[in-house]
Amino acid sequence: MKKKRALSGIQPSGKLHLGNFVGALSNWVKMQEEYECFFFIADLHALTTGYSDTSKLKESILDVATDMLSVGLDPGKSTLFIQSDIPEHSELHLMFSMITPLAWLERVPTYKSQIEELKEKDLGTYGFLGYPVLQAADILIYKADVVPVGQDQLPHLELTREIGRRFNNCYKDTFPLPKDLLTETPILPGLDGRKMSKSYGNAINISDSPEIIRKKVSEAITDPARVKREDKGHPDVCNIFTYHKFFNKAEYKQIGQDCRSAKIGCVECKKNAANKLVEMLAPIYERRMTYEQKKDDVVEIFKSGGIRAQAIARRTLTEAKQAMRII
Ligand code: TRP
Ligand code: SF4
Repeated sequence: MKKKRALSGIQPSGKLHLGNFVGALSNWVKMQEEYECFFFIADLHALTTGYSDTSKLKESILDVATDMLSVGLDPGKSTLFIQSDIPEHSELHLMFSMITPLAWLERVPTYKSQIEELKEKDLGTYGFLGYPVLQAADILIYKADVVPVGQDQLPHLELTREIGRRFNNCYKDTFPLPKDLLTETPILPGLDGRKMSKSYGNAINISDSPEIIRKKVSEAITDPARVKREDKGHPDVCNIFTYHKFFNKAEYKQIGQDCRSAKIGCVECKKNAANKLVEMLAPIYERRMTYEQKKDDVVEIFKSGGIRAQAIARRTLTEAKQAMRII
């Protein structure tokens, strides 16, 4: 039986962190066996919010590419590429922009909320409004069957189907409508208990060395009410406990009890959590060390993935142009 095609993208926001790993990448790695996978770095999407300072973009792309390979995305199984290497995405985006009503874009929830949240940036641009149109082009140009995404991306997927449907109706059946494959992972807290995010400075990066992981974890905020070693703890408000829940499934129940009864102290508990993280990240770290020495190979892998992807993108674009009667 022919494998279904899965596609997903990630923005090059610099070195990826554990939140990105549990929320997306670890799932992509698993999907490689069951699906024909396309995973790409959405650098054009990064421009929609980051257009005013592009000085770090190249470096971020290389960081994310290295992280993708390090976590175990395998170029022998999956097609890995960089969005801007395939100009066909941009061309299909332009064609879709002709048939996409403004009202559809203005009612995407992330549109207004991002403008609010990123007040320091001027997001009153044409490109930012068109973010979901570009995403629709990314997905439909490969005729993806499924798109693994988190909850926040569901409105974009809905819009992708709407644009595809409209194109099919206006011209000719060209695009199969993709399904979302919702990745249901609870959000991983950062070292200070807020959501893990690069901009909060509370992240553990996938690429952190064992020493850095141990240091970061030892400095993390725990139950603020537990001042002295004898104080009984409240694991439910402690982010270290959440790390045990994620990465130390065998012990976490016991740790919860021992924290509540003050049988264990935070120093010991953090050491244990750090060990579990280091253990889990060891094969990833090892691969990263290798790729770190061979940056040219990383670039090469993404270039050759791009060539494979482009062959498909080109075919779909021709079909779409024929449907529109512009060739
Ligand atoms: N918008 C996605 C995000 O921020 C990234 C993305 C761009 C994407 N194009 C895509 C995800 C196509 C899935 C499919 O996470
Ligand atoms: Fe958190 Fe562990 Fe300290 Fe309890 S013992 S507060 S779970 S670090």
